[in-house]
Amino acid sequence: MSKEHFGTLEDGTKVDIWTVRGGGITLRVLSYGGIVQTLELPDRHGHRANVALGFDNLDDYVAHSPYFGALIGRYGNRIARGRFTLDGTEYQVPVSDGPNSLHGGDQGFDKRVWAVEGFTDGGDGGLVLRRTSADGEMGFPGTLEVQVVYTLTADARWRIDYSATTDKATVVNLTSHTYFNLRGEGSGGVDDHEAEIAAHRFTPVDATQIPTGELAPVEGTPFDFRTAKAIGRDLRTPHQQILYGQGYDHNFVLDKGRTDLPEHVATVTDPVSGRTLRLATTEPGMQFYTGNFLAGAFAGPSGHVYRQGDAFCLETQHFPDSPNRPSFPSTVLRPGQTYRSTTVHSFGVS
Ligand code: GLA
Repeated sequence: MSKEHFGTLEDGTKVDIWTVRGGGITLRVLSYGGIVQTLELPDRHGHRANVALGFDNLDDYVAHSPYFGALIGRYGNRIARGRFTLDGTEYQVPVSDGPNSLHGGDQGFDKRVWAVEGFTDGGDGGLVLRRTSADGEMGFPGTLEVQVVYTLTADARWRIDYSATTDKATVVNLTSHTYFNLRGEGSGGVDDHEAEIAAHRFTPVDATQIPTGELAPVEGTPFDFRTAKAIGRDLRTPHQQILYGQGYDHNFVLDKGRTDLPEHVATVTDPVSGRTLRLATTEPGMQFYTGNFLAGAFAGPSGHVYRQGDAFCLETQHFPDSPNRPSFPSTVLRPGQTYRSTTVHSFGVS
């Protein structure tokens, strides 16, 4: 484990980059946003590549990152019109995506500097990231003490353990926004990656990407990934939901529901490199996003420009707009309770 200087923010704050190795994986993490800057893995011939989209300098992250690799909070995904009522009080949080709030507002956890410490534990090693989100930060009630642990295990897993406590009732929905391309960042589209998602239902959205409240069957729609298929197979089907998301940008209702221990929810394989990612989580939902808004406007560390469909994200989470949807699993956290969420990425080759 090692730490180096990565850059300096406009206000003079220094940002570190940490390198962690374990199980054949190399992870580089910034203290800014807890961003996973690179994630290096061997392919079936042992050739290593960085499979996470990102930038090689801090200025790009600050100027125009679409949440590359970042920790997302206090509320991942959308809250309709940035408004919700909790215990009779109405709160307004920043509107940052059309008429809605996205990913905790314009200065969310992805744009904050975290306190980072390295650790080793037997064959495992990792980082503990901490920050205090003040009462009222981005309009959310309650002082939130947040801890995120990134662990690389000797058996090639990258595990994320989130926990948080509050001193006032609030809403919390934390996730990680890594953009994966298992063939290597900058290698082109992920249309031919094969994906399997253990979900019989998804949450359809309106034109502003807010769930309608319905849990719709995936059967007979482009959203049916119950059996592995190429990501691109149905991506050009003119289904209303595909048009609203400009591709896949939807929350899947994971069959296993909210669980105390992480359970398998998805597998993605790149047939060319053979790299596989198996995902397990405690969360009841997962936003499957196909990099629809990557618009060819900037390049990553490989020197190649990122275009629409060059990556996929598996954002484990509670459902979007839960604060306004009593029928969805609750995202409310109260004093005395501890928010906990775990997601495990198991890497391998086929
Ligand atoms: C999430 C959202 C998308 C998009 C990306 C970041 O995946 O659901 O609509 O905003 O974050 O660009």
